[in-house]
Amino acid sequence: MEVLAGGGRGGLLHAVLLAGAALVALTGGAEAWAHHGAAGARAGAERRYRDLAAGRMESVRSSFGKARRGLATSSAGSRVYHVTDYGADPTGAADATAAIKKAIADAFSPPSNATMTAGIPDLGGAEIHLDGGTYLVNGPLTLPASGGGNFKIHSGSLRASAEFPTDRYLIELSAGSSAASSSSSYHYEYVTLRDLMLDCGYRGGGVAVVDSLRVGVDNCYITGFETEGIAVRGGHETYIRNTFLGQHMTAGTDPGERSFGGTAIRLDGNDNSVSDVVVFSAATGIMVTGGANTISGVHCYNKATGFGGTGIHLKVPGLTQTWLSNCYMDYTSIVAEDPVLLHVSGSFFLGDANVVLKAVNGVARGVQITGNMFNGRGKGVDIVQLDGEFGTVEQVYVQQNSAMGMNLKATTARGSAEGNGSSWTVDFAPVLLFPDRIGHVQYSLVAGDAFPGHTLRNISGNQVVVATDKAVSATVHVLVDQNSN
Ligand SMILES: *[C@@H]1O[C@H](CO)[C@@H](O)[C@H](O)[C@H]1NC(C)=O
Ligand SMILES: *[C@@H]1O[C@H](CO)[C@@H](O)[C@H](O)[C@H]1NC(C)=O
Ligand SMILES: *[C@@H]1O[C@H](CO)[C@@H](O)[C@H](O)[C@H]1NC(C)=O
Repeated sequence: MEVLAGGGRGGLLHAVLLAGAALVALTGGAEAWAHHGAAGARAGAERRYRDLAAGRMESVRSSFGKARRGLATSSAGSRVYHVTDYGADPTGAADATAAIKKAIADAFSPPSNATMTAGIPDLGGAEIHLDGGTYLVNGPLTLPASGGGNFKIHSGSLRASAEFPTDRYLIELSAGSSAASSSSSYHYEYVTLRDLMLDCGYRGGGVAVVDSLRVGVDNCYITGFETEGIAVRGGHETYIRNTFLGQHMTAGTDPGERSFGGTAIRLDGNDNSVSDVVVFSAATGIMVTGGANTISGVHCYNKATGFGGTGIHLKVPGLTQTWLSNCYMDYTSIVAEDPVLLHVSGSFFLGDANVVLKAVNGVARGVQITGNMFNGRGKGVDIVQLDGEFGTVEQVYVQQNSAMGMNLKATTARGSAEGNGSSWTVDFAPVLLFPDRIGHVQYSLVAGDAFPGHTLRNISGNQVVVATDKAVSATVHVLVDQNSN
């Protein structure tokens, strides 16, 4: 097998390091000789070994150059496909769609009969290398419908031209119509998109991942999307990490913020993960319409909720199965429709950003919103807010959050009332999340030396009333929980 670009480059670096190490080692040796007084011998030895190292580097360079030139025509050997070898213009002046597609087609010719899940051809680690260039594309780079896995596209920029179709994506992992005929199967597996800047030119979207398994989008910057920055449909285990998405290149307080559009990430599938991602402009940060997705370390400042934006929209009423942690919701809220199995913790909400539970069929079950920090502007915004009425509320825990400048809402609360008489009322309406719902009450009555008969009289309207059989001076301490279990 000929040494080609990928191996050649790694090999070159290795060779340089080795040559360097040899030089250092031998210089040390020369120093040792100098102690025996032979200064001339020392200089000669240094020169000799420097020449040796230089010669070695030169021979590596020339074999590397030869390999590099032979790349485009080589069918066996390296699986690194440099798009510039296919004539793609790295200056971004001329359309490079056909050249890059040709490189992708070559990479999709499998090196062996090895297959991955569901018979997906194993491309053996093939890479489309963008050579640090910027490429103009008139149409989507759609991976071949024959499918493939163990493949990467990396290290460069793609820019949609003014002719780019508005309903497509710069990179599409999509088998198109053949996917419809075999909708249950997967077409791509372990495809990595890394170190890419994608500029959709306010026309289409950035990346579509359809019916794929184990796809990684890592360290990308996706901008100019009109539809979605990244759209995942079907399949599972798309991992979006360390990535920046924004329709407009901006860094907050943008005069055009009210008109931001598009969705940075759409997860229309299960078992995906979004971590360490920033959404800096879009109407919606993340739209989730599938279950069992995890979101962590996401900073959303896409379009303030006050301007009609949404940070994270969980549109999976009745089976949310989403867990969110360590996020920074920066003026943009989380909206969850009929949350069933939802966890939100360890997150920071700034600028009146909150969590909105939106009733569709009025079911909230298995919800944990705990241990978050909220910071608002003193306008009386609830940290967790209901949009509509919930008839079914089970295992909903909104507690141990901290708030400044916002109303602290919870599903459990403590309070006390002090007075001289026979009735004590503790009003939990301002703090309890669900109206007129108390599932559990515990109280104690402290009346000094008095020993009155007492009872829980009423809990209607989230107001707890305790009564005594005679007038006493007493304090009543009450603990309530909106769950009955
Ligand atoms: C791949 O499979 C074909 C058909 O079964 C066979 O002819 C060929 O030798 C195989 N190639 C390798 C590299 O195993
Ligand atoms: C409570 O009220 C009763 C009569 O209503 C009065 O006699 C008593 O002094 C009061 N006690 C206190 C502690 O205010
Ligand atoms: C509880 O309080 C509500 C509101 O004040 C009232 O309508 C209701 O009749 C009370 N229930 C009882 C059992 O006293």
